[in-house]
Amino acid sequence: MAKASEVGNGGQSAIGQPYYCQECKRNHTKGKIYKEHLNFAKFESEKEESIEDESESNDMAQEDSDILEEEEEIVTEMDDEEFHNEIEEDEDFDEEILALDNNNSDCVDAVKKLPGVGEATLKKLIKAGFGSLESIAYTPPSIIQEESGLGDKTTAKLIKASMEKLNIGFKSAEDVWEHRRNIARITTGSQELDNLFGGGIETGCVIEFFGEFRTGKTQIAHMLCVNVQLPKEDGGLSGNALYIDTEGTFRPERIIQMAEGLDLDHKKVLKNIVFGRAYNSDHQVLLIKEATNLIREKNIKLIIVDSLIGHFRSEYVGRGTLANRQQTINTHLHDLLRLTDIFPELCIIVTNQVQSKPDVFYGNPTVAAGGNIVAHGSTIRVYLRKGKGEQRVAKMIDAPHLPEGEAIFSITENGIVD
Ligand code: GTP
Ligand code: MG
Repeated sequence: MAKASEVGNGGQSAIGQPYYCQECKRNHTKGKIYKEHLNFAKFESEKEESIEDESESNDMAQEDSDILEEEEEIVTEMDDEEFHNEIEEDEDFDEEILALDNNNSDCVDAVKKLPGVGEATLKKLIKAGFGSLESIAYTPPSIIQEESGLGDKTTAKLIKASMEKLNIGFKSAEDVWEHRRNIARITTGSQELDNLFGGGIETGCVIEFFGEFRTGKTQIAHMLCVNVQLPKEDGGLSGNALYIDTEGTFRPERIIQMAEGLDLDHKKVLKNIVFGRAYNSDHQVLLIKEATNLIREKNIKLIIVDSLIGHFRSEYVGRGTLANRQQTINTHLHDLLRLTDIFPELCIIVTNQVQSKPDVFYGNPTVAAGGNIVAHGSTIRVYLRKGKGEQRVAKMIDAPHLPEGEAIFSITENGIVD
């Protein structure tokens, strides 16, 4: 994460315009996630020297990257053994793989056993974050190809084999019910709010909290980061949290207060929250793309994105950029949804602002920002509004299996309570 936070941003350039990235000394297009940059963030130190040589002129760097991509394609077509010799010299890289291998040996073992996966292919897959059958099976081939550098035929074979191993296909509704019955949940701290969700915030989906300022979106996000660490019998998942902060409103002080309210050791609680500050929309997208290995490595069971579209709203200004903005948000949401497919015991919470509807005279004059893309992307949507004093009202707006309803909860020093 720390490495990712240092990546160049091109924050000032307009959408669709090329800009020169100071970090990896290449041209990028604003609004697109760039493969070179992903590689750069992961292997910064490894590539430092060669990139410096390349950076004499932008044009040259661009040419080099084209050649590099061509070479990658050729290498993909080589036999694993031929490639093996080249890669073996790369000791740092081996150590990194080894570390990953130790952390998730079961998942990696399963990938290793796929037909046609030699050491070189395995390394490429793990390096790009595809260290489990689920991550291969659920990711579109184009993304696997782009991020791992594998050829299209190899990718197609790997996906097919992973799907077969995971038995992905049709199943009976009874099986689906069996799965849903055992779904893991996180308590919010308020019984009423838990009831609104049918017994706590469920895992395996993306949940959106939207509402005006000070309605408690960030407070709920903080509280869940603490509660997810509780043992299952106390309403947690014995897991850790990843907090992507786009607005600079994450406050460890609040975590300490909330942890103390639950008699938890606040030092431990803080240690178990991985924090990433997203400085712009590209960076936000990048942090989520990099999350796969982190989730496994750090036993992450909850991801917070607070807020989902703040950066997009401020960066994509004017009607002309709308289509581009919506497309990028859509891809970002699908990246998040895919994580819940890969990790069924993962809960993703996104917060969203509201914008005013000038044409509404009666009823609620606000609507969640981001339009239909966000509405369709998130599985469960909850609207928050202010009540008296510390009280807040949560309204279930959209959920595949829950009735519309309301719950009242309070924000106190120790967090969310009834
Ligand atoms: P925006 O991010 O501005 O859109 O708002 P938000 O919905 O994220 O608001 P947030 O969750 O940050 O809620 C802020 C509110 O929580 C404050 O206005 C307070 O009312 C309440 N709050 C925060 N800390 C405390 C605390 O220590 N004690 C109490 N009683 N309330 C608190
Ligand atoms: Mg907030």
